[in-house]
Amino acid sequence: MADAARRRAVRVLTAVLRARGGGESLRAVLARERPGLSPADQGLMADLAFGVCRHYRLLEDWLHAHMKKPLKAGARPVEVALLAGLYEVWFTDRAHHAVLNAWPDVCRALKAPWATGLCNALLRKASGQDPRTYSAELAPEIRHSVPDWLWQALRHDWPEQAEELLARSNDAPPLAVRVNRRRSSRDAVAARLQAAHWDARAGELSPDCLYIEPARPVDQLPGFAEGLFSVQDEAAQLPVTLMDAPVDGRILDACAAPGGKTAQLAEHFPEARITALEADGDRLPRVQDNLDRLALAAELLHGDATRPDAWWDGEAFDAVLVDAPCSASGILRRQPDSKWHRLAGDLDELVRLQGEILVALWPLVKHGGMLVYATCSLLKSENEEQVQRFLAGHADARDDTPERAEALPSRAGCQLPPAKGAQDGFFFARLCKSGKGFGP
Ligand SMILES: C[S@@+](CC[C@H](N)C(=O)[O-])C[C@H]1O[C@@H](n2cnc3c(N)ncnc32)[C@H](O)[C@@H]1O
Repeated sequence: MADAARRRAVRVLTAVLRARGGGESLRAVLARERPGLSPADQGLMADLAFGVCRHYRLLEDWLHAHMKKPLKAGARPVEVALLAGLYEVWFTDRAHHAVLNAWPDVCRALKAPWATGLCNALLRKASGQDPRTYSAELAPEIRHSVPDWLWQALRHDWPEQAEELLARSNDAPPLAVRVNRRRSSRDAVAARLQAAHWDARAGELSPDCLYIEPARPVDQLPGFAEGLFSVQDEAAQLPVTLMDAPVDGRILDACAAPGGKTAQLAEHFPEARITALEADGDRLPRVQDNLDRLALAAELLHGDATRPDAWWDGEAFDAVLVDAPCSASGILRRQPDSKWHRLAGDLDELVRLQGEILVALWPLVKHGGMLVYATCSLLKSENEEQVQRFLAGHADARDDTPERAEALPSRAGCQLPPAKGAQDGFFFARLCKSGKGFGP
């Protein structure tokens, strides 16, 4: 019953979109609401929830402009239902008459019969309008639905590209996977998927990346349960491809959970000793689950990367990966709720933590070794400025990041923008430490 999916989408969004960043994680609430729904209804619920989070500010702007008076605070689920109905009319190709019939029923199910007429009238009005025409007159932060602080930061950093970056951040993302090169090859996995009538296209940046269509829950794909591939964005696959270490070397993955890159490291360096460190003990089991599914191994440590004195055994690492906690501004299309959960002040705190992690871990890198720093952010304070600051304070460090044609201009490291049907926004920098074996 599609109505059940719509009702649950309202519950999801009411829990996720709370004032002052207080809402729950979209993915976590969706997982909680999935049981009992058919796969098609799970898809509808997820589409409504992701869609409203992506276009929240625009939808809210239209709604408030077209209502005579605001709804009472106790009617928040009704307001959310109106936003979801508006999203469905404007941004999906579902038949308008079906959508217009469905949402008044949802209002009735919410025990708000008083809202059915209002809902009907508003959605009818919206169905006669084009969201592009409506949004063309609005401020960019409303048109692209981002909080003011994020718009200001992006416009400051990327005056020419900011609007395009935000437009791409509201696209539905493609399903990208990383083939487990220890168990198979990209061609073999693509052939297997194609034989089962999925479309599998090779990525252009990462040698292990496949894009799969149509995007479906990954456990429905042949080969996933056997550990032949993992879900991972193409840009997120690149930091590990920049790393090098002796065959039996020692590698630290310093911010490991949920373990996507720990597993990738184990695939790329089968005989290396890999340590996966994570500060959040509740997230560590997910690293183990990922490794188990792929039949890979690493040493798991619960600890704080800024405090190596508490967990480091004193043996230096050939290579260190810092996949740092960040604003997630490069992956808004995958985590649109993060726009509404992060507050302006969070960015300064993240920048400070990233800097502390870099400074604390550099002494653990062997002379001649490397540290790869990565974020899924588009903001310079977390990326090129962070690396420039680090380089200015460390004479034994050199930026050795390969250039890429797809990158945005950057004075340190490599900044990739989100691209339609391709990679997320991502930053990485390979920092080499001078010493024996160090290049020219
Ligand atoms: C971007 S996520 C890492 C994603 C992971 N590398 C992957 O590919 O699946 C950042 C992680 O760093 C962890 N973290 C945050 N502060 C940390 C710290 N001081 N020390 C170690 N881990 C930290 C967070 O809990 C989070 O799990």
